[in-house]
Amino acid sequence: MCGIFGYTGFRRLGPIILEGLKRLEYRGYDSAGVAFISSGLQVMKDAGKIDEISRKFNFSGIDGKLAISHTRWATHGAVTQTNAHPHISCNGRIAVVHNGIIENYIDLKRELISLGHKFRSETDTEVIPHLIEEFYRKTGDPLKAIFMAVSKLDGSFAFLAIFEDHPDRIFAVRYKSPLVIGLGDGENFVASDVPAFLKYTKKVIFLDDMEVAVISRNSVEVFNSLTREKVDKEIYIVPWSVEDAERGGYPHFMMKEIMEQRFTITRVLGQDDRIREASQLIKDAQKVFLVAAGTSYHACLASSYWFAEIAGVNARAVLASEFPSISKLVDDKSLVIAVSQSGETADVLESVRMAKKRGSKILGIVNVVGSSLMRISDAFLTINAGPEICVLATKSYTSQLTILYLLVNDLVGRLENAKEEIKRAETLVAHMLESEALLKDIRRIAKDLSASEHIFLIGRGISYATSLEGALKIKEVSYIHAEGFAGGELKHGTLALIEEGTPCIAIVPEDETKDQTLGNAMEIKARGGYIIGLSNEEHVVFDELIRTPSETSLSPIVMIIPLQLLAYYLALERGCNVDQPRNLAKSVTVL
Ligand code: M6R
Repeated sequence: MCGIFGYTGFRRLGPIILEGLKRLEYRGYDSAGVAFISSGLQVMKDAGKIDEISRKFNFSGIDGKLAISHTRWATHGAVTQTNAHPHISCNGRIAVVHNGIIENYIDLKRELISLGHKFRSETDTEVIPHLIEEFYRKTGDPLKAIFMAVSKLDGSFAFLAIFEDHPDRIFAVRYKSPLVIGLGDGENFVASDVPAFLKYTKKVIFLDDMEVAVISRNSVEVFNSLTREKVDKEIYIVPWSVEDAERGGYPHFMMKEIMEQRFTITRVLGQDDRIREASQLIKDAQKVFLVAAGTSYHACLASSYWFAEIAGVNARAVLASEFPSISKLVDDKSLVIAVSQSGETADVLESVRMAKKRGSKILGIVNVVGSSLMRISDAFLTINAGPEICVLATKSYTSQLTILYLLVNDLVGRLENAKEEIKRAETLVAHMLESEALLKDIRRIAKDLSASEHIFLIGRGISYATSLEGALKIKEVSYIHAEGFAGGELKHGTLALIEEGTPCIAIVPEDETKDQTLGNAMEIKARGGYIIGLSNEEHVVFDELIRTPSETSLSPIVMIIPLQLLAYYLALERGCNVDQPRNLAKSVTVL
């Protein structure tokens, strides 16, 4: 949800700002803008894609000492040039870019207008530069003005501010929205996410809530905004390589990230101690909740079947956005396992905060090391999948399934066996992804389905989760209405939608659900449905077969691969924007 990026240092400003913005574009892509200081504070911004805006204003040509920039995912105010960030103070000498939501902006705006401030946009963000201006006028001290402004804000915010009067400093503030500082030699970076500057430094500082950083070319100082005291921050070394954040010859990040599953699944291994610590937390808990959103929720749902079948543990998968409604069930004997690729999803973080207040322990499972979720958890596990840039989650899903599978098996003393199964699953995934015949078949099927209005997916047991995840992938990237169902559910209503030729994908692993799912496929076919089977063998009910390995214990990992590919090819056939689907953003950092 919006990307913010700032730089101060010895490099030419334009190219580095443009590069940082482009690398954050996955977080939002409605509009973009830059503020920089070069003989006065200047702002360039517009609605549209970064490339278009950059061409219009010649971002590459920007020169000066420092700059802050923004790529927007609109929340308050339409997608217009005026609403694009940066926003400026009345006198045009303070500029701000912001990610998050200022919940009390209406009251603040009213107050500021009564003090004579003139607003230009419909955004919540614009109150920030005006507030800072107000306090700066009173104190003459930019840091004090920021502290005072922060104390007035409710909601979630990561923002950067620059002052024309202090052209050597970027002020960075974080509360409930991510912000990370990249430490260079004679230069420093600040961004919503590490890939923005990974090419230049792997040394980072993660800001915590209510911290304010003062960033200049040769120094970074961090203060607690409540006590106003200086804070000593730990420096982390990011374990990702530059190549991890590049497309590496693939036409889209989505394809690159799907293909990376040939080796990312086993990258989860190697954290036995942390797994043991995590399974102890489960053993000590009377109630276990798996909390996540979107794809991560599907990984939780799939794992709830493993928890039940393998370990006899009742682990309830709950959508993070629904968690508040059941939070009364959570107490000091509970464990919340919160799963999030980004570790920054607002619904997940809010659920965790709520659970903590009720005395629950938190086990975080994240991809982004240093993320908010990791830092507020009592214990954490990483999936180590490397940066996932495409808005669609692909490799993070299979890695989340992997770590959850290891965890469940550790509970019953099967960790070593599970590791072997995982290695085998990765080999099967690699075979599928390296099979030109399979890729060709899926591409052909995508072409046939590309004009469909609806696609239904059915699966039973753990494959129900696969059907939901497959449907999400198809919807998100190809804009075809797709829905996943438990195989037995269609006849309770949805069967009414089946017409001659309606495509339905039956997920049929070689497990105890096979015969019943085939039976459900028969019911659909009898009403004219067109059945595409995901199975290791032909069956009379299938009009098309996508052949999958006969792996059973890790079928969610194996079976999702062809569905990810199908979604990708559907998007290509329909000319959709693969890496940046409309209306979406990679990390949803607003509630
Ligand atoms: O970073 P998280 O795993 O917490 O993100 C959760 C969802 O926003 C995410 O999985 C989303 O549904 C993806 N776009 C799905 O492809």
